Amino acid sequence: MYKEYLTRAREILSDMTLSEKVGQLNQITITPYTGKTDELKELIRSGGVGSIILASSATAGNDPQGHVNVELYRDLQRIAVEQSRTGIPMIYGRDVIHGHRTVYPIPLASAASFNEGLVERCYRNIAVEALADSIRWTFSPMLDLCRDPRWGRIAEGPGEDPLLGSRMATACVKGFQGDDLKADGSIVACAKHYLGYGASEGGRDYARTEISDVTLYNYILPAFRAAVDAGVGTVMSSFNDINGTPVTGGRKYLTDILRGKLGFEGFVVSDWGAVCQLEHAGFAENREDCAKKALHAGLDLDMCDKCYIENLPDLVKKGEVTEQEIDTAVTRVLCVKLAMGLFENPYGKCANYDKNVHLSNAKLLSDESMVLLKNNGVLPLKKDTKILLSGPFAEERRTLLGTWTLDGSAEETPNLREALSQKAAGVFRYTEELKDAEDCDVIVLAVGEDYRKTGENHSVSDISLDGAQVELVKKAHATGKRVVGVFFCGRQMALGNAAGFFDAILYAWHCGSKTACSVADILFGDVVPSGRTPVTFPQKPTHIPLYYNVTSSGRPANGYYGELSQGTYDDGDYAPLYPFGYGLSYTVFEYGKAECADGEVSLEELKSGKKVTFSVEVTNKGDYDGKETVQLYISDTVASVIRPIRELKDYKKVFIKKGETKKVEFHLGFGDLGFYSENGDYLVEKGKFNIYIGKDCLTDNSAVLYVI
Ligand code: NOJ
Repeated sequence: MYKEYLTRAREILSDMTLSEKVGQLNQITITPYTGKTDELKELIRSGGVGSIILASSATAGNDPQGHVNVELYRDLQRIAVEQSRTGIPMIYGRDVIHGHRTVYPIPLASAASFNEGLVERCYRNIAVEALADSIRWTFSPMLDLCRDPRWGRIAEGPGEDPLLGSRMATACVKGFQGDDLKADGSIVACAKHYLGYGASEGGRDYARTEISDVTLYNYILPAFRAAVDAGVGTVMSSFNDINGTPVTGGRKYLTDILRGKLGFEGFVVSDWGAVCQLEHAGFAENREDCAKKALHAGLDLDMCDKCYIENLPDLVKKGEVTEQEIDTAVTRVLCVKLAMGLFENPYGKCANYDKNVHLSNAKLLSDESMVLLKNNGVLPLKKDTKILLSGPFAEERRTLLGTWTLDGSAEETPNLREALSQKAAGVFRYTEELKDAEDCDVIVLAVGEDYRKTGENHSVSDISLDGAQVELVKKAHATGKRVVGVFFCGRQMALGNAAGFFDAILYAWHCGSKTACSVADILFGDVVPSGRTPVTFPQKPTHIPLYYNVTSSGRPANGYYGELSQGTYDDGDYAPLYPFGYGLSYTVFEYGKAECADGEVSLEELKSGKKVTFSVEVTNKGDYDGKETVQLYISDTVASVIRPIRELKDYKKVFIKKGETKKVEFHLGFGDLGFYSENGDYLVEKGKFNIYIGKDCLTDNSAVLYVI
């Protein structure tokens, strides 16, 4: 996909000086040039800038980043194209993570939709809006698998499962890049943070990681593999080290695995500051050494460090870096620029779009992302139910947009108070203090966490609901009224200290521009909830890490999530409050027995492409039409590398009308039944596989397959 531009890239390269080549590997931010526009223009004119990041600081997630300034970007681009000797256009990038003007659910929430078709459609909308502001490249999707919700950046990724992460990776890349990178509405995606940043120890941001090879290949790498297979143009190297080697200086990761095993053809950009951090990490002696080690590892574009531009020319003169190495990196950058049509169209196409269409897609995705965690029958509310709304998030707007919202407008985002007063005019009241609670049927509490508790550099040590909110919940419960909790959160919280006081819990996440409208529709049954947990919800924060796809321990009677095994905690078992894949509906889905068409298949047949069919009948026995996410898990009972007790291998989100039965089929082949060894070799081994099909990861509706 990118290599087809090699010949043209090499032609361009053959006419470039060393300093122009190094300029192509230099990404800058404009902020330091405030008031020094002439200096900036001269740098661009001299061929010293390959790319500009439209951000003013390294931790852009929750900090104001300034508005986009299309006119300025056009002016600067004109200088690169018309006044620099090579005329190579710069590529503009911005952190357009889960929305640009229209804001869609945070990525963790959109994973909860289990609806990658809808995610792809929304990410296409995001690309169109970004392009209209001259943004040609986004630093998204973030694909870090995360098992520790204390890490604030869990909000930005797809959760704890490699298959779900892979599906979301494909959807985001296809949405951003489309079928053709040159097409109107396409921008370049960036799979980040490669590799393992989500394993930051203790959930502390920028901390070290401890990752076994088996974990790396089986859990962390799959989403990146999916992004590469979907044609992602760029990959961002992460800050962390693996096995003592910072990834940004690790040839094993950036070259041997990424290019050798995954077949990546685009270019690698560092995270902001990651090149010079090789020195702080004690991996390089000085900035010169940082540049040398990063380039040698396979790092192509230096984000805002100036390490490359300041050091590579001298390193070549000293013979410590070959011009050939630099050529390789420049060629990769040029191939992406050519593939995206930047030379033919350096200024972006400013596609027109209908904001209302984008908002209605945002609404659909937030409808499907919210998870009904608990319902004792109070929901959906009847039209004449008298509602009292309270809680610290009832009037909140900005938090609903979530972390990494640079260009979405909080002022234009309805809050829950507005959405409910529109929906339930006449029967709705809002008070801050639960005043006159006797005069209502149901109390709705808007609780959760501020967006600034999530995102980059914003981890928390305690993921439970804070004390003041728990007190409010208890007070509401003590009124004797039924209490519905609407949780606005950027991660799974540990709700063991609060869940019991609610009659219903709707987990609304930070779902973007349409969050409050979706909540109102779901509370009244105009939308039937269908989101599923993309992560495990622990009872207590001290139960972290708790994730579903664990391997079995050697203890007998080893229960799922460990809860029945010997070796649970003396002060209470750690069964999750809500397991992975879980979520309620207003209707009732009944499952028939999981069936396997052939009880056995030979390894040879699998290798030659045979797929085994599994099926289940699902009947909607309730009173609402609704969507059900039918999930298939496998357990490879004996293997040379011990396998998880359950691994999600496929799912289908199906719409089933009330009274209707649908047969849902799955087809598993060679690519589904195997695993990666510690060397990264893919193996399918003979033996017994238990296959589980059901509503969530705890299902025991099983069938058996023998691979012979
Ligand atoms: C640092 C973050 O880790 C990364 O995700 C982001 O894309 C860059 N800063 C650029 O803002």
